[in-house]
Amino acid sequence: MPAVVIIGAQWGDEGKGKATDLLGSRIDYVVKFNGGNNAGHTVVVGDEKYALHLLPSGILTEGVVPVIANGVVIDIEVLFDEIDALNARGVDTSKLVVSANAHVITQYHRTLDKVTERFLGSRQIGTTGRGIGPSYADKINRVGIRIQDLFDENILRQKVEGALHSKNQLLVKLYNRRAITVDEIVDDLLSYAERLRPMVADTGLLLNQALDAGKTVVFEGGQATMLDVDHGTYPFVTSSNSTAGGASTGSGIGPGRIDRVIGIVKAYTTRVGAGPFPTELLDESGEWLRARGFEFGTTTGRPRRTGWYDAPVARYAARINGITDFVMTKLDVLTGLKEIPVCVAYEVDGERVEEIPVSQTDFHHAVPIYENFPGWSEDISGARVFEDLPKNAQDYVLAVEAISGSRISAIGVGPDREAIVARHDLLD
Ligand code: IMP
Repeated sequence: MPAVVIIGAQWGDEGKGKATDLLGSRIDYVVKFNGGNNAGHTVVVGDEKYALHLLPSGILTEGVVPVIANGVVIDIEVLFDEIDALNARGVDTSKLVVSANAHVITQYHRTLDKVTERFLGSRQIGTTGRGIGPSYADKINRVGIRIQDLFDENILRQKVEGALHSKNQLLVKLYNRRAITVDEIVDDLLSYAERLRPMVADTGLLLNQALDAGKTVVFEGGQATMLDVDHGTYPFVTSSNSTAGGASTGSGIGPGRIDRVIGIVKAYTTRVGAGPFPTELLDESGEWLRARGFEFGTTTGRPRRTGWYDAPVARYAARINGITDFVMTKLDVLTGLKEIPVCVAYEVDGERVEEIPVSQTDFHHAVPIYENFPGWSEDISGARVFEDLPKNAQDYVLAVEAISGSRISAIGVGPDREAIVARHDLLD
């Protein structure tokens, strides 16, 4: 029975929750395997709207076991704030399991994220400022703090001392900030230990056992393909592997166990933060997409950059992740356009290129080559099967599918959970 990976196929905020919703009651476990509270899903259930940053969206589905796996970086205060907010609205979070090997985000990571961004000046990445990059940097530098360290005060103190040794030099001498004391960090982390303890487990073991028992496990990627630290538009990326391979390293299941990889694409494109984005619209069409699609960051509230659908990006994502199915979201946002441009290739230095250029300098000045498709004006939010869509909307989806590298198995037509046109079973 399946291990299903769901990842963003563009620059994030594609609406991965829609795919999770589609799988609905067939899901037994939902696993977050990368990133931290830089993510943001907005999930609408009935009249209620939930904005989640750290918890996997599956936490809202009754009966599902939500898992925060080893590849995640956890800001524990945020974790408990989200749990408390959900509990206050009657959502049961008691099944949540947290990996003993996940790393923590502390105050010094948040501080360093903000000051280093400020010092980068015009070379800023535009991070979410949540301490994600510095926490992953500590993990790779082998000076990170893991969840399990909270249960051994001696070890915790030694590790925090080690981490702060050089960081305080940086904070005080380079960034003109106050030094952070070992005590304040240790006391803060220890204050969460007892509440955290019952949630902590060997999540790799748990997930392998679940798969052995024939359970359906969904691995929900944070961020997206083009923000992946290896395969994205480096350095304008996040600090984790947000592509499908990250589901394996980030959770402790073998790559051969993955049965389906579902890539989420918007019917257009958005990006938050700096970095190349060939189809970006800096005119009133971009404003129109932003207003119609309500494209403002769930985590930071920043207006998202907007542009037309980019098929070479979708093909790249299909390749890098081994996408078996796309779910296209927000098709309804395009309703009312006379013509819908789709980027089918780029022009680089006067030459037509079909795929993302190998050099990022070329990608920075790649000019999209568009094909225009006729739009539609009918309200499509009530469509549930493909034939319910107006002919032009069907043709748009079919044309995009033909050049995107995998089949489009479902289409989001509105913000409600049910507002989905299903074409193919995502588990088939
Ligand atoms: P960081 O993940 O906070 O280090 O930010 C690195 C880059 O990833 C910035 O451009 C962020 O705007 C972007 N980013 C991080 N999380 C998300 C997300 O959930 N959606 C879209 N962009 C994101």
